[in-house]
Amino acid sequence: MPGDTQTPLADPAVADGSTISCMALQDLRENYQQPPLRRADLAADPFDQFAAWFADAQAAGLHEPNAMTLATVSSNGRPAARTVLLKGIDGADARHRGFVFYTNYTSDKAADLAAHPHVALNFHWSPLARTVRISGPSEKTSFQETDAYFQSRPRGSQLGAWCSHQSRTIDNRGVLEDRQRELEARHPEGTPVPTPGFWGGYRVTPEAIEFCSCFPLVFFLREKVPSYEQYALGETWAIDIWI
Ligand SMILES: Cc1cc2nc3c(=O)[nH]c(=O)nc-3n(C[C@H](O)[C@H](O)[C@H](O)COP(=O)(O)O)c2cc1C
Repeated sequence: MPGDTQTPLADPAVADGSTISCMALQDLRENYQQPPLRRADLAADPFDQFAAWFADAQAAGLHEPNAMTLATVSSNGRPAARTVLLKGIDGADARHRGFVFYTNYTSDKAADLAAHPHVALNFHWSPLARTVRISGPSEKTSFQETDAYFQSRPRGSQLGAWCSHQSRTIDNRGVLEDRQRELEARHPEGTPVPTPGFWGGYRVTPEAIEFCSCFPLVFFLREKVPSYEQYALGETWAIDIWI
């Protein structure tokens, strides 16, 4: 666990310009006290390892432990990163397991994913001094899967998905409020809100997963399409120690 020696933020009197916090930033320092991660600590399967660390994050009471950074690359090679929420770790079968998030298919990230399906994900569970980095290709979830998830969401989130035109500018907030009122009238309380065709999930199928606590240990997929026998033998993943 990090020590409790965190440097306080800069005095607000000097926190108003470029001097804000060069000093404070230099002095921010954590004393990581947890034992380094060892190969013997890891589950043989990175999904099991992720589940164990996720359970630790929940047990520690971390706020939104499913929040992750999603990094994409645009058609003209520009990287972008933003926060999204992990909503599933599953797949049709063991070979297609992945990390699922939902979004607007007209957003900038969706345009990036159409151009370059490979993404990177990063979880940072700061109070535990742990990160998990995942990289691999993404693909859209099926409409049935998206529909099942959308219909499980609270009504406010459902209407929010219809309202929000992600990555677009609007004249003012009133535009969104008008749209919200219009949607509430069209789909009165007690009636189902249909799943928008412009909204859905992506599943990231990992090719590498790094668990880092002091030292990174990285699981690499041995082959992109491992044989069933390798799965049966539990030989799907190789583990390397990275410094
Ligand atoms: C805590 C938090 C969780 C978020 N979760 C999601 C999410 O699950 N899906 C999503 O599309 N946007 C989510 N957002 C908004 C994104 O970070 C981002 O602003 C938005 O998706 C537009 O990104 P883009 O223009 O790069 O496509 C979340 C933001 C925050 C602060």
